[in-house]
Amino acid sequence: MQLFQRKTISDLMTGGESPHSLKRTLGAGDLIMLSIGAVIGAGIFGAIGTAAAGQMDAAGNVIRTGAGPALVFSFLLLGVACALAGLCYAELASMIPQAGSAYAYSYATLGELVAWIIGWDLILEYAVGNVAVAISWADYFNTLLRGSGIDLPLWITTGYRTALLSPDPHIHNLLATAPRLFGVPILINLPAFGIVMIITWLLLRGARESATANNVMVGIKLIALGLFIVAGLTHLEAKNYHPFMPNGFAGIHQGAAIVFFAYIGFDAISTAAEETRNPQKNLPIGILGGLAVCTVIYIIVGAVLTGMVPYRELAVADPLARALEISGYARVSWIVALGAAISMSAVLLVFQYGQPRIFFAMARDGLLPKWAARVDPVHRIPYVTTLITGIVVALAALIGDAAETYDLTNIGTLFAFALVSIGVLVLRYKDPHRPRPFRVPFVWPVSLSSAAACIFIMKGLPEQAWERFGLWLAIGLAVYFLYGYRHSRIRNSRFEIRKSN
Ligand code: ALA
Repeated sequence: MQLFQRKTISDLMTGGESPHSLKRTLGAGDLIMLSIGAVIGAGIFGAIGTAAAGQMDAAGNVIRTGAGPALVFSFLLLGVACALAGLCYAELASMIPQAGSAYAYSYATLGELVAWIIGWDLILEYAVGNVAVAISWADYFNTLLRGSGIDLPLWITTGYRTALLSPDPHIHNLLATAPRLFGVPILINLPAFGIVMIITWLLLRGARESATANNVMVGIKLIALGLFIVAGLTHLEAKNYHPFMPNGFAGIHQGAAIVFFAYIGFDAISTAAEETRNPQKNLPIGILGGLAVCTVIYIIVGAVLTGMVPYRELAVADPLARALEISGYARVSWIVALGAAISMSAVLLVFQYGQPRIFFAMARDGLLPKWAARVDPVHRIPYVTTLITGIVVALAALIGDAAETYDLTNIGTLFAFALVSIGVLVLRYKDPHRPRPFRVPFVWPVSLSSAAACIFIMKGLPEQAWERFGLWLAIGLAVYFLYGYRHSRIRNSRFEIRKSN
């Protein structure tokens, strides 16, 4: 039963006010901006292309079918699913305003083992997710450079995994033509590596400065998407909407499973709960408000994009810029690419901000080594985990592939959402009298349909994503039983109390 040892919510609350806690500086406006900063990024600028057009492997086999113009239904489906999950997040985030997001909630609701699984799982959402965003950022960065007449050699802009998996012979052949070191082809994505290191440096300068930078970037990303929509609207062709659902519901489903990436992040702001003023009120506003804004924007962008060019043309790394180029708007395309690169920097910032705080919470609980929970005395930020996350994500982005990392991120995040949704229900029964500044309306149908919707979307992912997810969880369990189980602060302190009685 010790595996299911739970923190009480009071444990969580007092944990948040110790000298090791973080500084409360963020308000509701900052949270909505952080939410948009986290949400609009690689998903809408990059993954949307694969969601519309589908994907093939290097041998020409179909990995997934695309939604075609029916992509708007994928966005609608996801908007509903995320709103359900968002309601559940909002209840828990407002009850338990502490760094660590779903990890902290599940510690209080479902016990230590499940909390560990979620914390481990969230690495897929934040750190692996950022690998995908960094790679997509680099794709748009390269488009910008090309537009300015600078062509970097492909071997320093293409990660090894991308070359290995690409159905494009030009890219795949890099395996044979790239320079070699000890017989191994050197295929690295230097821009992706560089941007992660820059973001890490920004974060090490303190949370407040980063939130301000985020506000500016959010403004820019809204302008970029606005520009895309306005230019695109002048170039819609009815024939591109026929057939509207080229692959039927399977296309919509599989498209939704990859473009779910575009929605990830509305929950990320709950990791800032410990740094939020009046979190009971501000967190629900931030989560649901940000989600509503993004869903509306996505549906419009999806409808415009698939009306501008035949959906099959969208199987590229920079689909929005490409659609504008094909439509003859080269200059607008360059500006939108610039906006995309800036948008994704904002996403990187929020995720690189969230991951260290989850590690921090886990280390503070003894599930990870104590040194990881060190807080910088001046800026009050978890600098050790910030630095480690930065280096690991940058190295993975150096050789990784975007589509592969989208899938892994999506499956991990959806699983965490499903567990959080169930957690809300469990806590209503285990601790019914605890004040809930925000209550999920109709909690039974909402939380159960939220969990069901997440699992349904997970089912749209390729088999390989499931296998890798299983492997990731198995590694996580091994780490828990070898380290966290023995060092858990909560279990050890309760054990001490029992001994002294
Ligand atoms: N939703 C974020 C993005 O699309 C992760 O980049």
